Amino acid sequence: MLTENEKRTPVRKAVIPAAGLGTRMLPVSHAIPKELLPIMDLPALYYLVKEAADSGITDILVITGREKTAMEEFFDYSPEYDAHLLAKGKEKEVKMLHDICDLANVYFIRQKEPKGLGHAVLRAKTFVGNEPFAVLYGDDIIFSKTPVVRQLIDSYEAFGRAAVGVKEVPKEDLARYCSMKAEKIEGGHDEYFVDDMIEKPKPGQEFSNLSILGRVLLTPEIFAILEHTAPGAGGELQLTDAMATLARTRGVTAKLFEGDRYDIGSKLGFAKANFVKALEHPEIKEEFAAFVREYLKNLD
Ligand code: UTP
Repeated sequence: MLTENEKRTPVRKAVIPAAGLGTRMLPVSHAIPKELLPIMDLPALYYLVKEAADSGITDILVITGREKTAMEEFFDYSPEYDAHLLAKGKEKEVKMLHDICDLANVYFIRQKEPKGLGHAVLRAKTFVGNEPFAVLYGDDIIFSKTPVVRQLIDSYEAFGRAAVGVKEVPKEDLARYCSMKAEKIEGGHDEYFVDDMIEKPKPGQEFSNLSILGRVLLTPEIFAILEHTAPGAGGELQLTDAMATLARTRGVTAKLFEGDRYDIGSKLGFAKANFVKALEHPEIKEEFAAFVREYLKNLD
């Protein structure tokens, strides 16, 4: 268990791995990283940074590969562009852009080779130091009432253990995700005690239909574990394999989080997220809803 002192360490850092190849989103991901694809008028990465900032995170490290500059540009002031906007009387737009840049301190580091999610997270070792930290998987966008990172911080503070965000996944889909050996915690808020987990289980290997979807809150001992973890499924260094060791040695809390998760690294998830945000967007929601109603009349 963590010491009393470690338990009180506030969570102020987050890591966003965004260096994957994005093969499920080819061809567009060949030129644009999927984490920069727009969900309506904002890049996917914005939603992740906003969720972290709304959870109390102040410092975020984005693990990038190619096309790093475009990600950095988005979170930086642009004096020339601002000057053009101001000349047109668009002060509100300049403020909106600056507010995005000021959400948090956003840092970038390259993974150099896409050797898996665990390998990407290991790049954050010196940034994280000896603190608990959140990981937001770069292609999982979650729309929720309470930011999911905040929900995980609450679990971490309640139980003093690393916390993983889980959802119930249909059995036939588990082979694409992971599976938790989990026991419901009495008196918890939809929380489970996890003492094992498995990445991409083969039929018969599943523990339960609870699977990690896009958010985890880790304690710094994960780095030493990652350094001693062999490549797993797909020949990649799997974060789940290291978290399984953490679960077996220290125990992990799983939080059945509130929120709708969209895998924007898949064509279907990307289309759904855009559909939902278009139906909510203050500038177009009525017209878009009217369009959808009309369109559905002719759909078989
Ligand atoms: P995914 O497995 O969904 O990303 O990883 P991928 O490898 O790009 O997916 P494919 O090619 O479509 O199957 C989840 C997150 O982890 C990042 C990805 O960018 C994604 O946001 N990631 C994955 C890394 O940063 N580095 C890696 O080596 C692998």
